[in-house]
Amino acid sequence: MAITRVGVVGCGLMGSGIVQVTAQAGFETVVIEANDELLKRGVGRIRQTLEGLTEKGKLDAKAKDAALARLSGAVGLEHLKACDLVVEAMTENQALKNETFAKLDTICPPHAILATNTSSCNVTAIAAATKRPAQVLGLHFFNPVPLMKLVEVARTILTDDAVVKTSTEWVRALGKVPVQTKDATAFIVNRLLVPYLLDAVRVYEGGLASLEDIDQAMKLGCGYPMGPFTLLDLVGLDTAMYVAEVMFEEFREPRYAPPALLKRMVLAGHLGRKTGRGFYTYGS
Ligand code: 3HC
Repeated sequence: MAITRVGVVGCGLMGSGIVQVTAQAGFETVVIEANDELLKRGVGRIRQTLEGLTEKGKLDAKAKDAALARLSGAVGLEHLKACDLVVEAMTENQALKNETFAKLDTICPPHAILATNTSSCNVTAIAAATKRPAQVLGLHFFNPVPLMKLVEVARTILTDDAVVKTSTEWVRALGKVPVQTKDATAFIVNRLLVPYLLDAVRVYEGGLASLEDIDQAMKLGCGYPMGPFTLLDLVGLDTAMYVAEVMFEEFREPRYAPPALLKRMVLAGHLGRKTGRGFYTYGS
């Protein structure tokens, strides 16, 4: 099956990145938000990024205009009725995702593939909420989407081989590198990354070293592109805590339990870059 028209549900941090790379890769892209204000903000962010790249000489003006011309935004899932593939990138909430996929199932054409960018929700439960479970799978992108090469292709025990193949080819057409994994909580990357990030918070809580020195140690000692606290601030402390809670619920292993400091920072609204303050402070 050929994918030509792609829908993205949600134009937040992850959704806007997915929309950007999809439109830049030549696909007609429709993005859906919950209301006009969120839509305007999300599409505005994509426009600003593309214009910034053009100003820096990294993207020619014609390619920028063509990407923007392929992109349209709307409020209401009914605008996805002509899509061959829909990628959902809403907040991590199992009930909301199940409900959204049940609606998408009634709106999208029978051949359409329905994918979720979830990092921690149960993809099998999402698939079971539709009447086309064989056409549902996880396509998990990484933050920041335009810069991160990887996409985890997560099949459930219900996903059809042909759907995995078409989705994997689409991921390659975006210029990304797919890896195959199963619908198991946290897939590959978060299964390994989250305990590392939680351990960083624990050793900091325990007074081993300063934030800056822990970050510097992991950057220069291991060659990681950023230290654990810079990365937690990028991912969002609320997102990291949510993923950890789901992993703890699933595996019941103490190493997945969110540390007290992380919980308190989330309660205090220190969520990372997006709120201007996390482990570090951003902006003026
Ligand atoms: N589109 C295209 N290009 C863009 C862009 C965009 N939206 N935004 C920035 N760029 C370009 C910039 O113009 C810049 O080019 P220039 O250097 O020539 O000006 C280039 O990309 C690189 O920008 P930076 O200087 O910011 O890049 P860095 O070299 O510092 O790398 C990084 C940034 C890629 C974020 C790197 O630090 C990194 O890999 N960090 C780790 C990120 C990570 O681990 N992410 C995964 C998080 S886990 C996750 O997402 C899972 C979830 O489920 C929780």
